Amino acid sequence: MDVAPAIVVPPATRLRGAIRVPGDKSISHRYALLAAISEGRTTIRQYAPGADCASTLNCLASLSVQIGRVLDDPGEPPLLVIHGRGLRGLQPPSGPLDCGNSGSTMRMLAGVLAAHPFSSTLVGDRSLSRRPMRRIIAPLSRMGARFEAADGDRPPLTIHGNHLNAIEFVPEVPSAQVKSAVLLAGLQALGRTKVTEQASTRDHTERALSAFGAHLDYAGGGIMLDGGQRLQGIDARVPGDMSSAAFPATAAAALPGSEIRIDSVGLNPTRAGIVDVLRRFGASIEIRRVTDWQGEPVGSLTIRHQALRSVEITPAEVPAIIDELPVLGALATFGGELRVTGAGELRVKESDRIAALVTGLRRLGADAEELPDGFHIRGGTRLAGGAVDAQDDHRLAMAFAVAALGAREPVTIEGAEVVAVSYPTFFEDLDRLRA
Ligand code: S3P
Repeated sequence: MDVAPAIVVPPATRLRGAIRVPGDKSISHRYALLAAISEGRTTIRQYAPGADCASTLNCLASLSVQIGRVLDDPGEPPLLVIHGRGLRGLQPPSGPLDCGNSGSTMRMLAGVLAAHPFSSTLVGDRSLSRRPMRRIIAPLSRMGARFEAADGDRPPLTIHGNHLNAIEFVPEVPSAQVKSAVLLAGLQALGRTKVTEQASTRDHTERALSAFGAHLDYAGGGIMLDGGQRLQGIDARVPGDMSSAAFPATAAAALPGSEIRIDSVGLNPTRAGIVDVLRRFGASIEIRRVTDWQGEPVGSLTIRHQALRSVEITPAEVPAIIDELPVLGALATFGGELRVTGAGELRVKESDRIAALVTGLRRLGADAEELPDGFHIRGGTRLAGGAVDAQDDHRLAMAFAVAALGAREPVTIEGAEVVAVSYPTFFEDLDRLRA
């Protein structure tokens, strides 16, 4: 019989020390995709080590992009080297392209492939196969590509690429993946593409396009991009992932007596919403901005625990902390209260993160309640401990681990190996910080 690997997380008193987190997943996907359609060679240092970003590389390799790794510095992860094929230069794959667990890979690669004159099929794992794709199918079809998908919405996603025309597009859901798919298609389309977001989302694609030499204009709340601009390969370094840093940072905010530092983390304002929310919870956070890598601000965070307060997250704040909401739910089990609304998108992430978070935290003894588009968690009673299932979702596995630090008894997390999707060394880093 197969026994799913489980991890047991014992309670902690406080966290101390300094760490670095893996390279940013969102930025890594974008550099790999842009490198593939650039001219010349791109090198990427600190490319995200998780399975999601490996899926992007595997897909690109199947589209005849030459990718190598050079061990040039024993203290650093291997340098990734990608040889660009130029705009619309990818070659037909010999079989389906496996995006694994990665929605970013499927949606953004679809934007790239929509402009290539061949057919390709994108497949994913059980979780990705449930996720909505109509949000990219609709605008990319308007640009001239054709699609097939289960119920017109779910993977497998077959793309019949074409010569594209620019569109003006107002996304219905706030989604950086959708915006990026349209911008990547627009780069390869005839005319000027304009995307006007109703709520701003992370802007890594815009910053990366500029770093690779494209010119974007901003007016009337829209982002404009002329098609046909040729990109040039760059030498890039990926900042640490704020969404991964959120787990140790939140754990330090939760546990009295904690003080930790996280170095070389990306401080892009469209990703730093978690800092503001942790401060509202009561934590003291010092930010030291040190440098800029390819237009992305980078620095260190020092997080100190202080007494926890109650926080309300409004719908307008959600896009800037969408991936951090599960761990903020875990934080509220330590004290204060957290009420989140306007976060219905959580139901179509790697799992239904509203249902799975509330079910899991309740199993550990939390006072937690589902709302149609959010959740409400009241802290103050210490969690009992017990067993909980990660539901094939990396961010839930890590959120439950943070909650476990405050429980009376150890917590067993079933399926915890799923952290490999974004933060393979998460449990080691957490253990190193235990004082
Ligand atoms: C991401 C955008 C967000 C986020 C995901 C990564 C990106 O998804 O939840 O983890 O890299 O653009 P949506 O675009 O679906 O909001």
